[in-house]
Amino acid sequence: MALKITVIGTGYLGATHAAAMAELGFEVLGLDVVPEKIEMLQRGEVPMYEPGLEELLRKHVAGIEGSSGRLRFTMDWAEVADFGDVHFVCVNTPQKHGEYACDMSYVDSAFAQLAPHLTRPALVVGKSTVPVGSADRLARELSAAAPVGADAELAWNPEFLREGFAVQDTLHPDRIVVGVRSANAEKLLREVYAGPVGEGSPFVVTDFPTAELVKTSANSFLATKISFINAMAEVCEAAGGDVVKLAEALGYDDRIGKKFLRAGIGFGGGCLPKDIRAFMARAGELGADQALTFLREIDSINMRRRGQMVEMAREALGGGSFLGKRVAVLGAAFKPDSDDVRDSPALNVAGQIHLQGGQVTVYDPKGMVNARRLFPTLGYAETAVDAVRGADVVLHLTEWREFRELDAASLGEVASARVILDGRNALDPAVWRAAGWTYRAMGRPAA
Ligand code: UGA
Repeated sequence: MALKITVIGTGYLGATHAAAMAELGFEVLGLDVVPEKIEMLQRGEVPMYEPGLEELLRKHVAGIEGSSGRLRFTMDWAEVADFGDVHFVCVNTPQKHGEYACDMSYVDSAFAQLAPHLTRPALVVGKSTVPVGSADRLARELSAAAPVGADAELAWNPEFLREGFAVQDTLHPDRIVVGVRSANAEKLLREVYAGPVGEGSPFVVTDFPTAELVKTSANSFLATKISFINAMAEVCEAAGGDVVKLAEALGYDDRIGKKFLRAGIGFGGGCLPKDIRAFMARAGELGADQALTFLREIDSINMRRRGQMVEMAREALGGGSFLGKRVAVLGAAFKPDSDDVRDSPALNVAGQIHLQGGQVTVYDPKGMVNARRLFPTLGYAETAVDAVRGADVVLHLTEWREFRELDAASLGEVASARVILDGRNALDPAVWRAAGWTYRAMGRPAA
């Protein structure tokens, strides 16, 4: 009989994982503690913008015409425990308020709610990003609290999906990492992932701490790569070099590679910033803080870019105060193809200029609702052209395709001054300069 799968927590990770498991042919039951989320999902609607996810969901959610009916949702823990052979825990682990460490309360609560209902053998699989050592503790707590005892087993299976590519990354992962303690756990997970493994995704079996560490070290490496090129951008600015050319030339060395070498206002979002901080905090607890002190520098290079962007805008406006100046901000999401504004560099820059007296108008193709909620005092426009109307300077801060396709000439007619600052090094300088704009970008010479 095919395995039955449950997914606990239906945010980015969980909603995508649940739909992907149904796509792979399994019967899936998703659980969340937020009733509105469950109601939306039951209607086949996704609570966030993620390309392709709604289609995949509608293809499988029971009750939707033409669907496979393999995917259902509930708020009932007993139903979940009764249904599933394999339970994936996909809840959030945000940064703790006022601390670097990550907040484990959602993970702890998911385990505490599920365990007492486990009256038949089950594999619980953690997918959330957690401090190393958590799986060991949770495994003990799980078997102690479950009526089946040691037959409630734990495995750790970190997730590497990127927002904006969540469906693709989940159905065709570049690797599957499983931390297991028994042949049974490995066998069950091989069964779950037989599809992608059959298509060639490497399946890496490890112990618990290694599986947990793969995730945090992968995100630390990515953050390091971005801050490395942003540090080079700072040097380029001082020396008159061009960081975009530099990155291109570095990238041809396949030991370095060209990905994640886009200089600009740096990384944000719900993962990279909080993961490197939680990693430092955990290393400190383990007495290995020295090993990760470099991440402090990675973090500060990254945060410095936001301030640098503000200074570039000030300079473009004549070097004085922002008071009375109109600033158009293109982009609010932390990256394109996402409506996520958590720790968004774009909104951070917009907010700083606003707090210094600038009249900021923001436009983002998908992030407006979330941006308004987070920063209600900023000005918002319904289109890019409306945001730019009357602006003394235009800041390009999230590299949506829509912005690359803007017509520089007609945008120039509505702006009060033709000055554009590219915080993502994603626009074509030649096009903008040809349309009469002063184009400036981070880490590149003025003209
Ligand atoms: C990141 C990782 O890439 C995923 O592998 C991981 O699964 C996920 O975190 C997670 O932990 O859940 P994500 O947060 O979706 O994924 O975003 P990324 O694509 O990594 O981008 C992060 C930030 O870096 C964005 O603000 C982006 O604009 C910025 N970035 C990226 C750069 O500034 N330069 C680059 O060259 C690349």
